[in-house]
Amino acid sequence: MRKAVCPGSFDPVTNGHLDIIGRAAALFDEVTVAVLINKRKASLFTVEERIELLGQATAELGNVRIDAFHGLLVDFCRDNGISAIVKGLRAVSDFDYELQMAQMNHRLTGVETLFVSTNPLYSYLSSSLVKEVATYGGDVVGLLPDIVLDRLRRKLDENSRAAGPDDRR
Ligand code: PNS
Repeated sequence: MRKAVCPGSFDPVTNGHLDIIGRAAALFDEVTVAVLINKRKASLFTVEERIELLGQATAELGNVRIDAFHGLLVDFCRDNGISAIVKGLRAVSDFDYELQMAQMNHRLTGVETLFVSTNPLYSYLSSSLVKEVATYGGDVVGLLPDIVLDRLRRKLDENSRAAGPDDRR
C-alpha cells in the first residue's frame, strides 16, 4: 500500500490545503493528514478542533485519515509506514525552506518529499492571512470550507467578547 502524509498546522484548514490533500489522495492509496502539536506556537484552534474540522472537510475522501503528531515528522512517518511527504508549493518564497526540510528529512530516514504546485486560485492563501483578514471583518468566503468558516467566525466572536470592549474592532 502506498502511503503519504500531508503535515501542517492547519489552524484552520483552508481550501488551499484541501486542494493539496485531494490531489495527494488521488495519487496514493492512503493519505494521513498530520496536525503538528506545537506547544510553543500559539494557535487559534485546539489540536482537537483542528482534527475535527479536517475530518469534516475531508469526509468525502475515502482514503484520507486525520492524525496528530509531535516531535519529528520522519519519526511519525516511520511509525506509520509512510514513505512520502506531500507538500504544496505556493510560490518561490516557499521553496527555500521546503527544500531544506525535504533534504533534511531525506537525510534522516530516506523519506521522500513530493511537491505539488498549488492551484493558482489559492497561491496567496495561508491560514494566518485568513485569520487576520477575518479578525478585522474582511471577506474570506470561498477561501475555507463553509463549516470551517462558520467555526472561525464563532471562535473570533467568542475571543472578541472575552477580550472586552477595549480590544474589539
Ligand atoms: O503548516 P506549517 O506550520 O507550515 O507546517 C510545518 C510542518 C508541520 C510541516 C513542519 O514544521 C514540520 O514538519 N514539523 C515537525 C518537526 C520536524 O520534523 N522538524 C524537522 C524538519 S526538517
